[in-house]
Amino acid sequence: MKSEVLFERPGHKWVIIGRDPERRDEIIDTNEFAIITDDGTLLPDPGGIEIFPKVLSELARYVSPEEVKVLFASHQDPDIVSSLPMWLDLCPDAKTYVSWLWCSFISHFATGRDANIIGIPDEGQTISIGRAAKVQAVPAHYCHSSGNFSLYDPEARILFSGDIGAALLPSADAGLFVEDFSSHVEVMRSFHQRWMPSSAALRAWTQRVRALEPQMIAPQHGSLFKGDDVWRLLDWLDRLEVGRVPGR
Ligand SMILES: [Fe+2]
Ligand SMILES: [Fe+2]
Repeated sequence: MKSEVLFERPGHKWVIIGRDPERRDEIIDTNEFAIITDDGTLLPDPGGIEIFPKVLSELARYVSPEEVKVLFASHQDPDIVSSLPMWLDLCPDAKTYVSWLWCSFISHFATGRDANIIGIPDEGQTISIGRAAKVQAVPAHYCHSSGNFSLYDPEARILFSGDIGAALLPSADAGLFVEDFSSHVEVMRSFHQRWMPSSAALRAWTQRVRALEPQMIAPQHGSLFKGDDVWRLLDWLDRLEVGRVPGR
């Protein structure tokens, strides 16, 4: 797997880990992230069981994995958080934040541990990483899961968007950032039309995100958006009709 620093200030760093060229074809490619601070690390959507060993070894290049204090699951899917039991083996005191709707479902991944799984209320909440750093769980319900959150870091001005803005890239060599938005739309469209159930929910999310004025939107699959492409993505989502099976 490859990794890269997305943002760095003293005591505050974002790292992306992803683009596994050796992954089996049937496994959807995912981006993992780490928000590393001086007194704790948060993993937004830590990923599936399948890729856990690779994520762990890549993360260890930046920080001791025992420093993971917080896990955040945008929603309940296996590619998002089925690695939870392995992370809890390593970091048994870590807190896991997920929509309250999914707490009792995610608990199936805890495999008998007394896991510290915290239900995020529908309106969202602030999540502390260490003593100083705070990030915000931003409601993204029905985009695509019924209990769904994005995660915004106001200091880095990075919005982790989960499956919103996701793309199924044809190759692990595709750019880390979107290079040509108009052609990138072609690898995003069917993903959104099929996995997103509600155009109204997407519009509500774009309104919320516009108010935050992020400089970067980082989805869990595919290339990231920065600068003008952040606004191109929001405009595109505002016009997109979703919730339909192609050809029907
Ligand atoms: Fe998902
Ligand atoms: Fe996903």
